[in-house]
Amino acid sequence: MTASRQTPAGSAEPTRPTPSMQAASGLFNEVHSAEIVNASIGSATDPRLRQVLTSLVNHLHSFIKEVRLSEQEWASAIQFLTDTGQACTSTRQEFILLSDVLGASMLVDSLNNETDGVATESTVEGPFHMVASPQRALGDNIAGVDDGEPCLVTGTVTDDQGVPIPGARVDVWQADAHGFYDVQQLDQRPEGYLRGLFTSDENGRFWFRTIVPRYYPIPGDGPVGRLLQVTGRHPNRPAHIHFEVSSPGRHTLTTHVFVADSPYLYSDAVFAVKSSLVYEFPRVDDPVRAHEVGLPNPFRTVDFAVALRAADDTD
Ligand code: BEZ
Ligand code: FE
Repeated sequence: MTASRQTPAGSAEPTRPTPSMQAASGLFNEVHSAEIVNASIGSATDPRLRQVLTSLVNHLHSFIKEVRLSEQEWASAIQFLTDTGQACTSTRQEFILLSDVLGASMLVDSLNNETDGVATESTVEGPFHMVASPQRALGDNIAGVDDGEPCLVTGTVTDDQGVPIPGARVDVWQADAHGFYDVQQLDQRPEGYLRGLFTSDENGRFWFRTIVPRYYPIPGDGPVGRLLQVTGRHPNRPAHIHFEVSSPGRHTLTTHVFVADSPYLYSDAVFAVKSSLVYEFPRVDDPVRAHEVGLPNPFRTVDFAVALRAADDTD
């Protein structure tokens, strides 16, 4: 669109279009930048996609204006995201890590996992649930002999009224006594090490033998590690065991049990600790009981109560 005004001599002189004239014409301008981009979204676009993308463009443009982003800073941001993508492999997910350290994973988790004060609380899945856990029988040992402090993990899966759920899938994965997952040391650990897929018995009970995991630093040798470094943040997560528990008609629960005496409980690098998920792991010193459960004496124990809420539209 071309605007003009009359000069005193009567000849037409081109004038600058105002921002709103430019917006109406579809030409880019700083004031209406987000509006212009959003107007380009096709009319047949899925309504939810339109809502999410429009809001994303609005916030992105506001952010760029608020901090008056320089070209150099924008180029660095793009390089950072490129590095993040390039750090991903079949056993490493740097984007999930980025989402985790920015608190985005926990925010999405909180918004989508109401417990009504009854169901077990959820927390982040993390990037290490990337290989299938092997099917195991109740009571199996998912660790090796002498790999760490022996531990008997027991638990019950119920619905939110406390009724036991038989046949629930209980998928478990954890770090070892040095703070490493199997996928971080593929040449040193058997496949499925410290992972297991269990099925709750007729009373909703499950149990397995393992070792107490150690706290650990999230992977620090990539772009996310550099981000933590330049912002003065430590990379550590408190000791925990991951659980994903599911049953037909129930909302799948992704959560952890945190070890109450672990360092970093109050400064988790990914903000994932909820107080209801922190459990004592009492030490049992009883050779007869140790023999019964097939562990060396003494050993630690934890009993995890899992209550699953009913499934909803998101399941
Ligand atoms: C994990 O617990 O496995 C984890 C969660 C978030 C980031 C890194 C690791
Ligand atoms: Fe973990």
